[in-house]
Amino acid sequence: MDTKAKKEMLEKLRKEALLGGGQDRIDAQHAKGKMTARERVEAFLDKGTFRELDAFVTHRTHDFQMDRKTFLGDSVVTGWGQVDGRPVYVFSQDFTVLGGSLGEVHAEKICKVMDLAVKNGVPVIGLNDSGGARIQEGVVSLGAYADIFLRNTLASGVVPQISAILGPCAGGAVYSPALTDFILMVKKTSHMFITGPDVVKTVTHEDVSMDELGGAGIHASKSGVAHFVAEDENDALATLRQLLSYLPLNNMEDPPRVDTGDDPARRDESLNTIVPDDPRKAYDMHEIISKVVDNGEFLEVHQAFAGNMIVGFARLDGHVVGVVANQPLVLAGVLDIDASVKGARFVRFCDAFNIPIVTFEDVPGFMPGVDQEHRGIILHGAKLLYAYCEATVPKLTVITRKAYGGAYDVMSSKHIRGDYNVAWPTAEIAVMGPDGAVNIIFRKEIAEAADPAAKRAELIELYKDKFANPFVAASRGYLDDVIDPADTRARLIEALKICSAKRDQNPPRKHSTMPL
Ligand code: HXC
Repeated sequence: MDTKAKKEMLEKLRKEALLGGGQDRIDAQHAKGKMTARERVEAFLDKGTFRELDAFVTHRTHDFQMDRKTFLGDSVVTGWGQVDGRPVYVFSQDFTVLGGSLGEVHAEKICKVMDLAVKNGVPVIGLNDSGGARIQEGVVSLGAYADIFLRNTLASGVVPQISAILGPCAGGAVYSPALTDFILMVKKTSHMFITGPDVVKTVTHEDVSMDELGGAGIHASKSGVAHFVAEDENDALATLRQLLSYLPLNNMEDPPRVDTGDDPARRDESLNTIVPDDPRKAYDMHEIISKVVDNGEFLEVHQAFAGNMIVGFARLDGHVVGVVANQPLVLAGVLDIDASVKGARFVRFCDAFNIPIVTFEDVPGFMPGVDQEHRGIILHGAKLLYAYCEATVPKLTVITRKAYGGAYDVMSSKHIRGDYNVAWPTAEIAVMGPDGAVNIIFRKEIAEAADPAAKRAELIELYKDKFANPFVAASRGYLDDVIDPADTRARLIEALKICSAKRDQNPPRKHSTMPL
């Protein structure tokens, strides 16, 4: 063969690789409302930046007539590219080839990009659409999954790992996404479960549809497995790009600063009227967040899960911050099991990737009740406490109203290394709310009073005068300042600036034994 012929051969093979499982299967994929693996990569990355790896790899299986089912590149497309000019590694499972099933070489391709991602300090994004372990390869495919799980674990906290579920993801296959930092699912087309509806029916006799068992809605709102839900694949890929804009490439870098054009000294007088005078009335913490952060832009994580806790990414003077906030509109912002776990996970992610944490606090305490106690609120609440204690990134806290009980300690208090802790004049900092407190400490006085109701009301007023304000905490130095709410943005930005070179460390150890 001369060079011309060799080049023609290369062209022919490349064309063949681009076709994946063939035109019929590509058409079938489109008929399901899904893009192909390659179309997804192209739509996700900056135009023209995808550089494919291993396009000519093929499986090595001979059993079950697999010799006749060989496809160039096998059932996953891998490589690198750019998102907004910043590098990423990507793998995209190709359902048109043997249902995107994962065998030995499919896993080798994924492991290669994961190893490169860790070595080069670049995020790795998985676009998942697979029938799971390749049945024809038996235990080899199980081992291949384990090779990926190990890498997910070793890459955790080193480079951001994000999983988009764009089709089926079943059985042990779910554990690779579960080991990554964020899971995004798409309405209707993506499903995750350990066993599908048929097995569920056989084992537990429950009738359940694919969507009810493991669709995007259920994982976003009930199990908490999914951090983001997209309307369709284009929305999913846009959300991935948006999420990446808040993240550093790796744990040795800071997140990218963007010039947002929002005045760092911008005051907002309307912050003075958001917290109602009646402490039993709710208000929307989202409103406070959006008035404080740059241009009101907030990428909420876990939006549909544990609404009493809000977490997500925003910018202050162009610098990325992780926002953690109690939400008085849902269960009065109480810390229950789901809210604690949601907050803990987010705080740990921010700490791992050098993202300062801004906490907006209005919390009546931990959730009382038999159900919560029996399900382990003690254990799960401890996760949030642990995460905040452990975090060494800059931690800024604004108490807008209630900071009661153990929750006062937990929500990034001064005592657990808060760097700048301030309160609004509307703050109430106490062991518990006035009604409960008075019932306990003045039980005898109330019972013996000529008019118990009047006595009770009088004692509640006394308690409020003493504790329903921020000044006791401020007099102890537990708060750095009590601020005009209108100045919140400017104060946080100043504090962020002074903490920008913060260096803090935890004691050396193999690893902690955090309460799991
Ligand atoms: C080999 C597979 C496959 C698999 C699908 N295919 N899954 N090949 N191994 N796991 C092939 C099909 O044979 C078919 O090939 C093609 O992919 C498309 O599949 P269809 O069934 O026609 O597609 P669809 O109707 O859309 O159904 C998709 C599906 C279904 C729901 C994913 O294929 C399915 O139930 N697959 C098996 C899922 C499963 O139980 N996997 C194992 C999970 S356990 P042809 O050539 O006919 O077009 C697991 C363990 C991991 O993954 C453990 C890690 C520790």
